[in-house]
Amino acid sequence: MTTNFKHELAEILAKHINLSVQETEAAIEIPTDSRLGHFAFPCFSLAKVLRKAPPVIAAELAEKISQSRPAWLGQAVATGPYVNFFFDRAAFTGAVLQEVSAQGESYGGSREGAGQTVLVEYSSPNIAKHFHIGHLGSTIIGKTLDNIFRFLGYDVTSLNHLGDWGTQFGKLITAYLKWGSEEEITKTEISGLVKLYVQFHEEADKDPSLNDEARSWVVKMQDGDEEGLRIWKWFCDLSMKEYQRIYDRLNVSFDLIRGESYYNGKMEAIAEELQEKGLLIESDGAKIVDLEAHGMPPCLILRSDGGTLYPTRDIAAALDRYNTFKFHKNLYVTGNEQSLHFAQWMKVVELMGYDWAKGLEHIPYGMYLFESGKMSTRRGDVIKMEDLLDEATAKTLAIINEKNPSLENKETVAEQVGVGALKFNKLYNSRAKDTMFDWDRMLNFEGETGPYVQYTHARACSVLRKAGITPTTPDPASLTEDEPFEVTRLLYSFPDKIRDAAVKYEPFIIARHMVALAQAYNAFYHKHQILCDNEQTRNARLSLTNATRQVLKTGLALLGIDAPVVM
Ligand code: ARG
Repeated sequence: MTTNFKHELAEILAKHINLSVQETEAAIEIPTDSRLGHFAFPCFSLAKVLRKAPPVIAAELAEKISQSRPAWLGQAVATGPYVNFFFDRAAFTGAVLQEVSAQGESYGGSREGAGQTVLVEYSSPNIAKHFHIGHLGSTIIGKTLDNIFRFLGYDVTSLNHLGDWGTQFGKLITAYLKWGSEEEITKTEISGLVKLYVQFHEEADKDPSLNDEARSWVVKMQDGDEEGLRIWKWFCDLSMKEYQRIYDRLNVSFDLIRGESYYNGKMEAIAEELQEKGLLIESDGAKIVDLEAHGMPPCLILRSDGGTLYPTRDIAAALDRYNTFKFHKNLYVTGNEQSLHFAQWMKVVELMGYDWAKGLEHIPYGMYLFESGKMSTRRGDVIKMEDLLDEATAKTLAIINEKNPSLENKETVAEQVGVGALKFNKLYNSRAKDTMFDWDRMLNFEGETGPYVQYTHARACSVLRKAGITPTTPDPASLTEDEPFEVTRLLYSFPDKIRDAAVKYEPFIIARHMVALAQAYNAFYHKHQILCDNEQTRNARLSLTNATRQVLKTGLALLGIDAPVVM
């Protein structure tokens, strides 16, 4: 038996209506409240062609389908303009559990993206500055999208577009040569660089000629000056050391780390091409692309001194990436505040006549909010990411020490749970929403949190350990009560949720599904004794437990979160 029930139902329905199987399948809904049906088919769109009222069509369809239906389909009933379908619990459960167990770790995944290239650009911190909390959001969301697309068989390349070029490096080099020491900077890494940067601005207020010096370094570096580039490269390597420590703890790695500097020398050609295509106009000495017809302010391409700008670099990067990867999609995960920037330069690429521009997509997300208001990096009160990760782990360790002091590998589990909590918290709401940063909330083991899902996974592992056996093919008739059926329903819709998350670029769809599954499993666990005396029932309940364990683990992995087996 297959679990592609929706498709099977679409095939049956399509025989009776004038829609293709594909159109029918797209129209079938999964009601949130399962009392209304496990599938629902709305008849509104058929009314015009059939010249009948939707409730009449629904009644006729329900009647026809009831006459010959597959084993898993228990009932088809018309409710107003809808036909609602109910599964036969035992047949449905048997098929779902068999499918999860047969597919194991690949359950929920597919090959539907095969042959399609997706670039996912995320994280992209700025060299010589600390990795800040804004980049945490990009890293967490980006990594999840990266995982989801891979799981669906897409050919994914993850990309870190480091901010490694700009006038600040002229200032930093000037400051370093005047006041810095190699020993000090080697030791203090980014903190030392930030200090030099602050010092530069203080001194330049008193002695503006420093600004000229800084600018001359920028020009020299553009022309390939060896000393300047050597120091710059060293700053980059030092910064990467901090970022790498953070990536290791977040369990993130990139297929390609390619900074903005890579596009030096590739932007003049962009300006020329824009000129040739008649898109470039002069405005106050600068060169811009007018976007008024598209309801946006102009996109700045060249500064009046000929210097290039952030959008120019992005246009050059997109062209270069397309030539290299022939991508179907190139996703850019950055904060909401950059939405206009992305809309502008992507429009310019479209106006240049590249039809692949439709594959460029900005994936914006909301920022973190703190009790005291918005977090600022400019005021210098930036939260250091390593401190934040340490705090997550320390707070979790304190909870473990209280709840389960004899746990083995406490430190490792605390890191898995603490970092997991931080990630889950960011992934639990729709991307665009701001995230309230609240340790108590995200670390609540009973809340809608990462630790809660991880704890449920560990609980399932523990039940299976205690049973000491691997469950065999269950008798599904033992799992027809409401609680196990609800668990099965959620196991069944897991692949659909992953696909939905991919289409909408919304990790929360998976995160929320994990919480729903964990809640349903816990309801089942509390209501029904799993290790009961009846062998058949025990085997069936263990089988459901094992399938739940598998899906929770896969779901957490998609969200980039570890699933410890004990907590
Ligand atoms: N480094 C930038 C920042 O921190 C993010 C880069 C986003 N990606 C891009 N292609 N512009 O704001």
